[in-house]
Amino acid sequence: MASRAVWPVASAVRNGLKSVARNRPRLRRIMAVAARELTRALDDDVYGAAYFGSGRDPLDRMGLSGYERYDRDTSNANVAAYLVWRWFGVTRTLDVGCATGFVVEALRELDMDARGVDVSQYAVDHPAQGARGHTSYGDLSRRLPFPDGNFDLVTALETLEHIPPDAIPAALAELRRVTRGYVIATIPSFGPNGNGPGGWFTVKVRNGRVPHYEALGPDYEGPIPYEDLYRDARGEPIEGHLTIASFGWWTRRFAEAGFTRCDGVEQAMHPHLARFGMTKYWNLYVFRVPGAPEPGPDLCTPHEIAHWEANLGLDTRRAADDDVAAVAATLGDEAAAVAAATPTKAPRADHPS
Ligand SMILES: C[S@@+](CC[C@H](N)C(=O)[O-])C[C@H]1O[C@@H](n2cnc3c(N)ncnc32)[C@H](O)[C@@H]1O
Repeated sequence: MASRAVWPVASAVRNGLKSVARNRPRLRRIMAVAARELTRALDDDVYGAAYFGSGRDPLDRMGLSGYERYDRDTSNANVAAYLVWRWFGVTRTLDVGCATGFVVEALRELDMDARGVDVSQYAVDHPAQGARGHTSYGDLSRRLPFPDGNFDLVTALETLEHIPPDAIPAALAELRRVTRGYVIATIPSFGPNGNGPGGWFTVKVRNGRVPHYEALGPDYEGPIPYEDLYRDARGEPIEGHLTIASFGWWTRRFAEAGFTRCDGVEQAMHPHLARFGMTKYWNLYVFRVPGAPEPGPDLCTPHEIAHWEANLGLDTRRAADDDVAAVAATLGDEAAAVAAATPTKAPRADHPS
């Protein structure tokens, strides 16, 4: 969207072009071709309209990468916003790989000054209603369009695995550059996780190679070689996932970029991820930079928690038995009881004082 200052110029140019298009059919055709080629040049090959479900037959999913539909619900934006709100006293946030900005929208509803960037021009051009004007183009593999330390907290949800292994150190350095506090990342990972349920190889490596990787044992760190990455029906790496590695590998790369993993808050979050049905979908990491305090304990009152769980639609979710068991096995019975708990109900319009 054009910034307010250039509106008059943009409007004059548009009117001029409209008049040309109306009166000169040949020029109109040239303009149509140029517009199509410009859109193609700006769009990302992988993360175009179809990746986010546009024009897609829901039945054609059949192993192809991308979303059948991408919305506030399928993006799990409310869970992400809840984690930020409940455990971090932050105001300025950036969501890297924000897609159409549902996390930005949810965080802004929680009164945060949230922004988002994404490499997909399609996603940037189709922002969620509440994210309009707050998302923009940005490529984590290059330089993000923000000064050093501009944000209290940066989220990178299901995004870092889309960057190839050799570009990960630079991408993490860029995350480090723009945050003065924290990073929350969810990254499909395998192997043991010191802070909660671990990850697996299925649908991350080619089917026939799963037994090979499982046999390597818990010390194997990856990343999985390109030729063994799980493929979609077109033979491309599934969902555009290029870096599939263990919890240990990712933790080390973040440490090299200057981050410390926040074990305590991850352990506190996992029972709730189970409660919201997210254990199988999100492999969670929370990091802080030197000087930023360990997050937690809980910053919110029980009343506020009940209020926002209801308003974000999280109070109706229930943990699957196997996820409660995974929490029990890694974090103990007390954590499992939190995972299995039924939340206190609060009326949706009830504003906490
Ligand atoms: C699987 S989607 C996740 C979207 C959103 N974070 C979520 O969790 O719903 C991956 C997103 O990462 C974006 N992406 C991939 N590579 C990127 C890069 N180098 N810089 C910024 N965004 C990138 C894609 O365009 C896409 O929107």
